[in-house]
Amino acid sequence: MGVVPPRVPPWSRRRLPGRWRRDRLGEVSWTRAFSLDELTRPRVLKTAGRQIAVVRDGESVAAIDNLCPHEGYPLHTGPVKDGLLTCEWHNWKFRLADGKCVLGGEDVRTYPTKVEDGVVFVRIEEPPRESEVPRLYASLGEAYDDGDFGRVAREVARLMRFGEPAPAIVAHGCVYAATHDRYGFDHGMATAADLLGSLRVLSEEAPLVVTEALSLLVEPLLRERVYPFPEAEPLAWVGQSADPEDPAWRAIEAELRRRVEAEEREAAEALLRGAIEAGAPPRVVHRWLVHAATDHFLSFGHAQIYCVKAEELLGEIGWVHAHPVLSSLVRRIVTGTREDRLPYMKAYRRRMEVHTPRLEAWAGMGQEGAALPASEFIETVLDGGADAALDAVADALDRGVTPARIALALGVAAAERMLRFDTAIEDAPVAEGWLYLSHLLTHADAVWATLRRRRSAEALRGLFHSARFVEHEHPLDLPPERRSRLGGRPLDPEAPDAGTMVAVLHHDPEAAMASAEFAFRERREALFGALVRAYVSDHLTVPIFIDHQIKTTAAAIRLSKALALDAQLAPWAERPILALVRFLAHPLQERRIRRRVRDALRFVWEGKVPESILPY
Ligand code: FES
Repeated sequence: MGVVPPRVPPWSRRRLPGRWRRDRLGEVSWTRAFSLDELTRPRVLKTAGRQIAVVRDGESVAAIDNLCPHEGYPLHTGPVKDGLLTCEWHNWKFRLADGKCVLGGEDVRTYPTKVEDGVVFVRIEEPPRESEVPRLYASLGEAYDDGDFGRVAREVARLMRFGEPAPAIVAHGCVYAATHDRYGFDHGMATAADLLGSLRVLSEEAPLVVTEALSLLVEPLLRERVYPFPEAEPLAWVGQSADPEDPAWRAIEAELRRRVEAEEREAAEALLRGAIEAGAPPRVVHRWLVHAATDHFLSFGHAQIYCVKAEELLGEIGWVHAHPVLSSLVRRIVTGTREDRLPYMKAYRRRMEVHTPRLEAWAGMGQEGAALPASEFIETVLDGGADAALDAVADALDRGVTPARIALALGVAAAERMLRFDTAIEDAPVAEGWLYLSHLLTHADAVWATLRRRRSAEALRGLFHSARFVEHEHPLDLPPERRSRLGGRPLDPEAPDAGTMVAVLHHDPEAAMASAEFAFRERREALFGALVRAYVSDHLTVPIFIDHQIKTTAAAIRLSKALALDAQLAPWAERPILALVRFLAHPLQERRIRRRVRDALRFVWEGKVPESILPY
């Protein structure tokens, strides 16, 4: 901000303080703006594609961007008082001295000014990237705290104009989420992985994808404070072996799992952080976490899903973010519900006493090409009862079927359960609903992805979790005579992929499935592209529902592609997609206040737990 120099006659200019003297550089970089006499009101200097408001406030002269950082309306028409300029449009107030926004959101950019011989000069220069990018990230952080997603979108746009890559910006949101979520890694980070993956299809929509990812990361954490991570536990350097079976790594893994089991949360986080800082290789660390996450059937398999998503997320944003992303995953694993300890899973525990001792042997078996009696397996998991579902997995492992193929078949079973779902339950005041069902598919996908990447005795437990999970939800099925019949007419035979999405948006599940069935045969890649584009379609509003939409879509497409490549299971490749479309097309109960009030009254007035259809 320039200060009007003392009035002196031109011939005595030499006696002015040095800062008022014209220097040689000034000839080049300073732009003549207005005479002081012209500044009876703010004026706009238009130069180099910019609009700069030049404002005289008493003895001072300031130059600021004329486009308000809120929505771009002009600032020069606003009133000036006590060193503050007010934007007339929505009343944001900016300090002329430094552009600080004292009421509203982002700061406005200022430019140096000087006054010589009664003339105001403005120095116009691009702010250096090294200072501007950190400033924008800091502003983005303020926008998270305020839950101001308009500001988030603007800062994303500004960062991308500076060439910041999408993964770097999403990483910023992930770090925020990791440090602000008291329970650790959650849906937002899992969805961030899928959204970054979608940029291969949605590259033209990068600002939208990034802003969607940030909103899903941050919105559920409004009003949360920082939950600091402990310092890294100092670990002696344990070598550079990439072999997870290296005794040193196995010792750390055993200690990590012990601390998780004992719910020594801070100690577990400190150990993992120490191992990362000591240079533990990514594949070793990911394996530890999968093993810790499958020591129990944790929170309906959420922990296993998050292990897979954390690995994919770090693949996008870089291992440099391993802490805090994986530290927050440890937090999630420690705080997860051990479902298998609850009474309703007593039969599971008993049956697994038979199967668990054989995990080591099974981990060494499995041959490509070993046949799975697929129809029988899928029917048993769906309708055979809890013990039979677990035994079917054990039987398949005994036959030498690869764990990944078994996981794929479980994915088909999960899809069938979604296709059978009695959707009236979504609207009923009970605990269950579409999110329960869609979770079957994302969990089966996570089990498949885990076993594709690393097979171990511990990871095989995911197969049993998945089988038990799919079987457990059979009370949510429609009776056979009321289940959907496929083979209907597609909405738009010329463009059935588009027709599918029209039916989804119009909440017409039958038309959506008929169109998707046709599109799957005729225009499969176009259908997949349309489903991915729906990630950013704004037709859902509550973050957890959007998370489920995106994660279920990603899982369905991945499972479908893997099924299509499996010589034996290829005939089922369309099932995950049809199940997905049925889910997407059904209107969802996003608000759930009725359900919450009903649960509250049952509990507070009658001492009863929430009403549910499934046995708990
Ligand atoms: S455009 Fe200036 S406050 Fe909204």
